[in-house]
Formats: sequence, C-alpha cells, structure tokens
Amino acid sequence: MKRLKLAILISGRGSNMEALLEAATDPSYPAEPVLVASNRPDAKGLETAASAGIATASVDHKLYGKDRESFERALNAALEKAGTEIIALAGFMRVLTPWFVTRWEGRMINIHPSLLPKYKGLHTHQRAIEAGDAEGGCSVHWVSTGVDEGKVIAQARVPILPGDTEDSLAARVLVEEHKLYPRALAMACEQILAD
Ligand code: GRF
Repeated sequence: MKRLKLAILISGRGSNMEALLEAATDPSYPAEPVLVASNRPDAKGLETAASAGIATASVDHKLYGKDRESFERALNAALEKAGTEIIALAGFMRVLTPWFVTRWEGRMINIHPSLLPKYKGLHTHQRAIEAGDAEGGCSVHWVSTGVDEGKVIAQARVPILPGDTEDSLAARVLVEEHKLYPRALAMACEQILAD
C-alpha cells in the first residue's frame, strides 16, 4: 500500500505531532513521517521527533523579519527536499500566506481546538465557556487561504462542565485531539490516494 510522505509543522510542545508519529509506527498507516519542522528552534517537539528517529528542520521565522513569504520559501525548500506529499499542521503558530497555502492546496491539514465554524483564531476554550456552550471540541480541516476556514474532515466533542476553566477544558479537548488527528489524517490521505 502506498504511504504518503508526511511532514508535520510545529511551534512548541508537539503532543499532537507525537500522536501522529505513534499512529504512523503501524506500517499499514497511510502516512509515513519524513520530516518534523518548526519555526521555533527551541520547540520541545523537535527533540521528541529526533528521539523517535525522525528528520527535523528548524526555520526560524525571526530571521526573516516581516517578510513572511521568504520565511515560507525557506520552509518550502526543506519540505520539498524531504519529498513531502502531505503536511499536518500541529500547533504551528504562524499564519500562512496565500502563496504557501496555494502551493499545498489539497495537501495540507490543520487541527484546531474548537467545533468549527465556531471560534476561529485564538482563545477558543475561553470563548466557548463565556458563551455558555454545553460542548467544546476540536476539528481537523483542510487548510485554505482563510484562517481556520477550510472544509472540516472530522470533529470530536467533549462536554463543558460546571466550574470548567480554560485550562481544564483545554486538557479535556487535548485528549480527544490525540485520538482525532491520527484518524482524520488517515482519512485525508485516503482521499488524496483515491483521486
Ligand atoms: C493544540 O491544542 C492544537 O489544537 C492547537 O495548538 C495546540 C498544540 O498543542 N492548534 P501541541 O503542540 O500539539 O501539544
């Protein structure tokens, strides 16, 4: 069975990345990690990936100042060198330009900690609590030029409980993210392979 060459982009902790790497240890999983790249050289996830034997790259966005596209061209060169066929954004905290999004259209997915289309952007859990929502959750979606606006692939829901704080809800959602992302990435790969 064909496995798509997977690059995971992170900016920090990398717990979703770890869940994807773990799923991909199964040789029948439809994605094979070839690169973990970060825009922050000190991202903890880079160490985790290296200990798992995965190639890592760091492209420090600060070196490019306000020039987002030249940062992305450097990142893109690392992705192409690794033979990337699909990208999973996993806590990657840079907004991508239309140039990069178009380059990887139909080949890039993201995990977002809300039930999209609700709460695009930041502070999703706080906003769900303040709105009095009964449920929170997470979504995996295709990346399009509008931030957190691409077509949803799959979602997971959790209850919002009395007394929940941003942190307690985030922790409950994170457990679901780690189950959802490997499943949704497999669905995305299968869709690409079927085309
Ligand atoms: C996750 O909650 C993800 O949904 C959001 O950023 C967080 C990243 O966590 N986009 P981690 O780096 O995967 O641990």
